[in-house]
Amino acid sequence: MSATCVVGLQWGDEAKGKIVDFLSDEHDFVVRYNGGNNAGHTVVWGDRKFALSLLPTGILRSHMTAVIGNGVVVFPPKLLEELASLKEAGIDAKDRLRVSANAHVIFPYHVAEDVECGGKATIGTTGRGIGPCYSDKVNRANGIRVGELLNPEHLKTRLSDIIPRKNKVLKALAQDPDKVPQFEVEKVWKEYAEMGDKIRPMVTDTAMLLHDALKDRKKLLFEAAQGSLLDIDHGTFPFVTSSHSLPSGIWSGTGVPARQLTRIIGVAKAYTTRVGSGPCPTELTDGPEGIGERIRKIGREYGTVTGRPRRVGWFDALAVRYSAALAGCDEITVMLLDVLSGLDEIKVCVGYEYEGKKINYFVSDGVELAKCKPVYETIQGWSEDISKARKLEDLPVQARRYVQYLSDLIGLPVSVISVGPDREQTILNKISG
Ligand code: GDP
Ligand code: IMO
Ligand code: MG
Repeated sequence: MSATCVVGLQWGDEAKGKIVDFLSDEHDFVVRYNGGNNAGHTVVWGDRKFALSLLPTGILRSHMTAVIGNGVVVFPPKLLEELASLKEAGIDAKDRLRVSANAHVIFPYHVAEDVECGGKATIGTTGRGIGPCYSDKVNRANGIRVGELLNPEHLKTRLSDIIPRKNKVLKALAQDPDKVPQFEVEKVWKEYAEMGDKIRPMVTDTAMLLHDALKDRKKLLFEAAQGSLLDIDHGTFPFVTSSHSLPSGIWSGTGVPARQLTRIIGVAKAYTTRVGSGPCPTELTDGPEGIGERIRKIGREYGTVTGRPRRVGWFDALAVRYSAALAGCDEITVMLLDVLSGLDEIKVCVGYEYEGKKINYFVSDGVELAKCKPVYETIQGWSEDISKARKLEDLPVQARRYVQYLSDLIGLPVSVISVGPDREQTILNKISG
């Protein structure tokens, strides 16, 4: 039995896509269990670069069956667009993709709600309709599942009920009711019924598919979207996404019980990034000539989905220790270590000053976390370019010390060190602890 989970330990964009790709040779199925096209996962093979938003990253590898579990929210135009662009790149993936009939569907009115009714302005969402779609799922009356797209008459009845209500809500809640989009049942129905027909061969009961795969001793790889600190329950609420990005989402989001997981790999950057609103205690706001801007430039820290500049800061050991504990990690990976080359000194947050006291634990409430000031320890940096390092001994001693220091602070072994976006730019670390 083998089921691995790759989960981000910060606020997303930790380079989960690279690790999933790296591990895909050892697995048969790759499974998304949460989120939707708010994610953006990048894979680089030599001069080829892929950025996938809704499809699981492992779909790039022709031996993999890719699964979109019931916990994902599916925007059908994006699904078809990503399949088409893969085909153009020579990767025919549609026969290897399975989509849960129970996954909920994002409609254009969800996107409008997200953009016009405060989500984008207050939380800094990606504006992809994620929150409104999950709200409809939980609220039930307005939620539509992928399976329902396959029955056009039924779909029409549902949309005839829902869309007039959505139009009213949009008018009532939008910042500018005169400019807010309004939707026609007939038009939305036609578009979605057509897309449903295209998706039909991929739609199935993915929970049973995965249980059958486990019986057949197939190896499953669960690909988390977002980061643990964006988890709806354990993240920095309200500045979070609307799904369970922690591995706890696997059971409900795919039907595979947690006890099947044999390896949980927490992915962390060698520093911190965050996109959108919400506190980030170690954020560097030291201006255009500062270290924050330098890391943003070297690390190309701009959102894969929205292109927004990512906020950049030092590694926050309290945050990662918290996430790694809640995720149940066996090991962590340290990504983008190369980006820190050339710094004389590197800071790591090892405590907070909170309400006049020094504390050594993470504060997950988004409003309270904003009151925390980081307490740093400083360690020596290194000047060498490390992007060609392929084994631990190739790294300067200061870089090795930095990784060991992070490992000690988190209390977990570092199994992989990444020194560049390419698959090859990866160092496997013999687990020491
Ligand atoms: P994900 O959402 O967790 O899959 O991460 P993203 O793909 O959104 O962001 C990670 C970015 O870092 C991508 O552009 C990767 O190509 C890039 N990347 C991954 N690993 C490394 C690394 O070790 N060094 C550098 N410089 N870039 C990396
Ligand atoms: P990957 O999988 C980084 C952030 C948004 C916003 C908040 C809520 O690439 O790591 P949403 O649209 O989900 O309602 O936005 O969550 N966010 C991400 N940040 N990486 C992601 O995904 C993210 N997905 C959502 O910026 O702050
Ligand atoms: Mg990303």
